[in-house]
Amino acid sequence: MARHFLRDDDLTPREQREVLQLAAAFRDDRFIRTPLAGPRAVAVIFDKPTLRTQVSFTTGIAELGGYPLAVDGALAQIGSRESVADTARVLGRQVAAIVWRTHAQSRIEEMAATAGVPVVNALTDDFHPCQVLADLLTIAQHRGGVGALAGQTFAYVGDGSNNMAHSYLLGGATAGLHVRIGTPEGYLPDASIVADAARIAAGTGGSVTVTHELAEAVAGADVVATDTWVSMGQEDQAAERETPFVPFRVDAAAMALARPDAIVLHCLPAYRGKEITAEVLDGPQSVVWDEAENRLHAQKALLAFVLERS
Ligand code: NVA
Repeated sequence: MARHFLRDDDLTPREQREVLQLAAAFRDDRFIRTPLAGPRAVAVIFDKPTLRTQVSFTTGIAELGGYPLAVDGALAQIGSRESVADTARVLGRQVAAIVWRTHAQSRIEEMAATAGVPVVNALTDDFHPCQVLADLLTIAQHRGGVGALAGQTFAYVGDGSNNMAHSYLLGGATAGLHVRIGTPEGYLPDASIVADAARIAAGTGGSVTVTHELAEAVAGADVVATDTWVSMGQEDQAAERETPFVPFRVDAAAMALARPDAIVLHCLPAYRGKEITAEVLDGPQSVVWDEAENRLHAQKALLAFVLERS
């Protein structure tokens, strides 16, 4: 059976710690493991725009000894020119793993059901679990290691209904974080994901809070995170996705409510003056460039983990 990573809770708390520890080891020495030596190919497919994800996966696959096969989703037209299941059968006969950025979560689930090789979610409408692994690695980097993650208070403010919010809920709960989501009315996370996160948190010592008050989310937080108010595919909603989010902007006043040594995360791309001010994004509490680098280390560890268990 191939091991997949389609959403954050596909890793148990123990497995997540193992992946993060391996990721930290990769940061110290980028060539400690080469599970793709041969080289074996990994297909990296994009149905949505990308910069960090394409660079970090292709670089990471090469550093694991493999061959990164970048596939333009516009050319492949998966699901229209050819079904997802038939694409999965073709790819699974040739590549060691499939990394896919696409739209509906059901598409990547269908790929995983048929491919016969590990399938990794490189962002869907619902989740961005590789980003959250990198974010957890970044928190660990600045807070005394992977063992220090549990018990940290993590505030995400902005669009509570998007992929990052959902992945922070599941991935954060798995790590034992106190996850707080601050979001306007009408942009709540999916209720079933909140329930899943609360169930996971009950076992890890974490907790889950969803609020419509920025101050309630950020007060005393160790980590403050945000994301664009307009995710890929929502460009036609840009106008309506402005006014409700203004009270959730991460600015100096919001940061004054967090712990004085709080760190700031943003998965990027960032829109200075919208969800975060330049003063905060480019300021001393921001660790967003470590976070971007950690995509590479976290995804190498994740790929090594799923390949070695498939
Ligand atoms: N929520 C954003 C994340 C970008 C990395 C989006 O889906 O566009």
